[in-house]
Amino acid sequence: MDVIQSILTKSKKCKAKILLPEAAIDKRIYAAAKMLIKNGNNVVVLGKPSNFDSDFLNAHCTIIDKDSLNLKQIADSLYQLRKSKGLTPKGAYQLLQNDEYLSCMLLHLGYADCMLAGAVYTTANTLKPALQIIKTKPNKNLVVGCMLMIGGGVSPLVFGDVSLNVNPTAQNLSEIAISCAEFYKKFISTPRVAMLSYSTLGSAQSEFTSKIIDATKLAQQNSNFSIVGEIQADAALNKITAKQKGVLSSVGGKANVLIFPDLNAGNISYKLVSELAHYTALGPIMLNFNKPVNDLSRGCTKQEAFLTALITLLQV
Ligand SMILES: CC(C)(COP(=O)(O)OP(=O)(O)OC[C@H]1O[C@@H](n2cnc3c(N)ncnc32)[C@H](O)[C@@H]1OP(=O)(O)O)[C@@H](O)C(=O)NCCC(=O)NCCS
Repeated sequence: MDVIQSILTKSKKCKAKILLPEAAIDKRIYAAAKMLIKNGNNVVVLGKPSNFDSDFLNAHCTIIDKDSLNLKQIADSLYQLRKSKGLTPKGAYQLLQNDEYLSCMLLHLGYADCMLAGAVYTTANTLKPALQIIKTKPNKNLVVGCMLMIGGGVSPLVFGDVSLNVNPTAQNLSEIAISCAEFYKKFISTPRVAMLSYSTLGSAQSEFTSKIIDATKLAQQNSNFSIVGEIQADAALNKITAKQKGVLSSVGGKANVLIFPDLNAGNISYKLVSELAHYTALGPIMLNFNKPVNDLSRGCTKQEAFLTALITLLQV
């Protein structure tokens, strides 16, 4: 079964509730909300009943009207969470005037089990409140942004980090690699991880290749996944090149999880593959939040929003 069909099938059984805070202000998200309801999923939206048509109001959907919320109580919860960071009660109340903060608090307080935003809000405005309020799972240090790349008649690929960690350290890179491998294992199949560089196994040397070598060692020490690095993209994806470049690892030429040295490389690469090779890019999918929060690209289509919402639900 292909990966999109598998996501569609598995998500039908998903009872979790997804918060779509932009449904009332963006047509693509409203359309995606309708598609989710048709798929049998539980949708929570932010807005007034007058923002939605009657079919939608009659559907299995929860509408949270901001005017009906006890903002003072929610502000107090936010203040309690962030007072050690210098937030005042007045500051907490002011933050809740932003839907980005309000939505994260609603997620934190259990109005939904996961959230998808970013069609209107910028990445930073979507992720910063989530990083501050939802936080990482207890056994993780880092939230990671990966992209599921589908196309080309080959197995799906995962690219990471493509959306959050601007200049990761070697330790950060090793955590990005392990988190992306865990995601691949859960959603697709056995991961084979390539720690990408402009050098393959010592063919060039600099502080930039040293970082990848250190990250590879750390990732190998801290997981049982098959991981190779530092390695060039051609040796990671082409079996003949891997052999020519002396890569003995079983990952050589068969990598399906590609880890990039920094956000410039990761973000540029996924957009090039999507634009030039016409891969479907699903995500960015954020890994390791306490409750799943995903950030759409502002250029997303309603179909991409729908599929990313299904992945978000499956992450619960
Ligand atoms: C999201 C982003 C704005 C957050 O950075 P920031 O504004 O400097 O935020 P801060 O460093 O103040 O961190 C805020 C909180 O998030 C936490 N945090 C930041 N990055 C984190 C990460 N990768 N994983 C886990 N927690 C993280 C910090 O520890 C901090 O927690 P605290 O306030 O409880 O101490 C920043 O990482 C960013 O701009 N990333 C790139 C986003 C982007 O433009 N992507 C390209 C388009 S897809």
